[in-house]
Amino acid sequence: MYPIVRKEILSASVKLFDLKAPLVAAKAKAGQFFILRADEKGERIPLTIADFDREQGTITAIFQEIGAGTRLLGRLEAGDAVLDVVGPLGVPSEIERFDGPVAVVGGGVGIAPIYPIARALKEAGNRVIAIIGARNKELLFWEEKMAAVSDALIVCTDDGSYGRKGFVTDALKDLYEANKDLQRVWAIGPMPMMRAIANTTRPMGVPTIVSMNPLMLDGTGMCGACRVLVGGETKFACVDGPEFDGHLVDFDLALKRLAIYRDEEKRALAALEH
Ligand code: FES
Repeated sequence: MYPIVRKEILSASVKLFDLKAPLVAAKAKAGQFFILRADEKGERIPLTIADFDREQGTITAIFQEIGAGTRLLGRLEAGDAVLDVVGPLGVPSEIERFDGPVAVVGGGVGIAPIYPIARALKEAGNRVIAIIGARNKELLFWEEKMAAVSDALIVCTDDGSYGRKGFVTDALKDLYEANKDLQRVWAIGPMPMMRAIANTTRPMGVPTIVSMNPLMLDGTGMCGACRVLVGGETKFACVDGPEFDGHLVDFDLALKRLAIYRDEEKRALAALEH
């Protein structure tokens, strides 16, 4: 069993757990994820590693309660434990020292997994400009943590309730106007946001990495549940990703697959509520 050593409520639907998982913490790198199962009946939930503390042997998971599985998970408290944690999985982010500024963009719950990437880029000696955004102020978190690992931070809300009003794509366009030597962009958030970022950076010619979060089952490349089409080739997000070239990902197909999954989720949620 893997104890929850700390729980934090970041917003109405976003929760944070620090989980005691020393073996995962020892190997975790930015960009990787793990699969968690709360109990024998629980579904497998893939979560990107939001932070890790090798000394304490803990990993940080941040999740939004969007489906039956994550809602049940959100009911657990510090002192409870989850049945299993498998990881770290996936290919770590490619971190190197670039000759110009790099940007990291986190939307909504995507702020969590973008944090370790920003930190790793900063530690590698890069000039890191961060953009974080959410629908409204209540859904924002980790502003201070992001500020600590970036040279500049732009905070946006769709409704203007905090920071700059508007989408992260608008902030990125302005950032590019002021930094034409922008070397690379990492974007993590809901798929429509990542698609919008990729569409924004394509004409700029700025390489853009996105982290795909499709349905995952085994996390070992065996079941095929997490397949995504990248540059016309089928890839498995769990073993080939989760990061891919955002300009090559077939987002329309990925969104269609996600919609099918959502219908199933709605049925599972209805069952949970009755
Ligand atoms: Fe099964 Fe990736 S989750 S192949």
